[in-house]
Amino acid sequence: MLIGIPKEIKNNEFRVGATPSGVKELVRRGHRVVVERFAGAGSGFADEEYEKAGATMAIGPAEVYGQAEMIIKVKEPVEPEYALCREGQLLFTFFHLAPDKPLTDAMINAGSICIAYETVEKADGQLPLLRPMSEVAGRLSIQEGAKYLERPFGGQGILLGGVPGVPPATVVIVGGGTVGTQAAWMAAGMKADVWMYDKDLDRLNYLSEIMPPNVKTVYSDELSLEHAYEHADLVIGAVLVHGAKAPKLLLRDHLKTMKRGSVIVDVAIDQGGFAETSRPTTHADPVYEVDGVVHYCVANMPGAVARTSTLALTNATIRYALEIADKGERACLGNPELTPGLNIYRGKITYRAIAEGFGYEYVPAREVLG
Ligand SMILES: NC(=O)c1ccc[n+]([C@@H]2O[C@H](COP(=O)([O-])OP(=O)(O)OC[C@H]3O[C@@H](n4cnc5c(N)ncnc54)[C@H](O)[C@@H]3O)[C@@H](O)[C@H]2O)c1
Repeated sequence: MLIGIPKEIKNNEFRVGATPSGVKELVRRGHRVVVERFAGAGSGFADEEYEKAGATMAIGPAEVYGQAEMIIKVKEPVEPEYALCREGQLLFTFFHLAPDKPLTDAMINAGSICIAYETVEKADGQLPLLRPMSEVAGRLSIQEGAKYLERPFGGQGILLGGVPGVPPATVVIVGGGTVGTQAAWMAAGMKADVWMYDKDLDRLNYLSEIMPPNVKTVYSDELSLEHAYEHADLVIGAVLVHGAKAPKLLLRDHLKTMKRGSVIVDVAIDQGGFAETSRPTTHADPVYEVDGVVHYCVANMPGAVARTSTLALTNATIRYALEIADKGERACLGNPELTPGLNIYRGKITYRAIAEGFGYEYVPAREVLG
């Protein structure tokens, strides 16, 4: 198969769809790979490394999309890329369609075959391709939150860990999955007082066994969250309902009860955000304030640490990419982990939560692949 790796063009997105070693594996399996010039530069991979791995280089995106049967990238296609996506072309990338009707409509109209990293799912419910990026975003959320708590960045001027004689900051993490857990490790390591909220009791049990004493686990309901927001210095939004829009758990009214200069890092913004007042921001302009509360809502957080993220992403995606390259769309039938990854197939929505969210017809993946 001819595989294309375009340069990402989303604001400040420095990741790339595959490392040179990922390309080498594809080439070794007998596939041809075309990489857009400078695609890896933001992650520290030179064109020569891709050429050495067996890729041919293309001058611009039109050359990549125009000839490739399968595109491997990182972020969802943005508007200038919509017209480049072709009928029957396999697109293997993050999509986050549920909160994005223009993108969903564009992909339906393009007739492309959209396999979304974030809904590839293992039998035990784990999301193996979201996971590495969630690990990065979880850890980064504390780094960013700590920065915006600093006075020059608009925060209250609080040090996350406090110092002897001055209490540490209170970090509230809503959602105890991958993002939440990684955030908790980081915040706990910085000696903050951490409260983690989840609805899944088994998960809370597990977390309370593995987390250090400065992390408390709490069942997530309306009252417990209200109480948490009143005391929080930093709130991390880390909830996920697979494939669907994020539930709104931090409402406009809650902001009035929060401390001025406290910070919300809404990691779940790529699924629409868990705070009512969240709207997507970019690395170029990452924060804004509502009722004196700083909102950080960057939808592609791992892009800021592109080298780490690209390496972690390729480690996870490459075995699925190889399978799709070998078998084409049939890979989504053969491998049950890839079946839920298929979101749109030649104009039909094949993921129930996305179809229902927009009131569109849902056609099961197994039916379209026949
Ligand atoms: N902004 C970014 O750059 C970026 C990067 C990576 C991941 N994400 C997003 O972060 C979010 C979390 O991802 P994840 O990998 O940790 O997901 P996950 O599935 O591992 O964890 C989500 C957790 O949320 C919990 N949850 C669901 N509903 C809840 C509720 N009402 N109250 C409390 N907890 C609830 C679940 O029980 C689960 O433990 C997703 O939206 C993901 O797309 C964003």
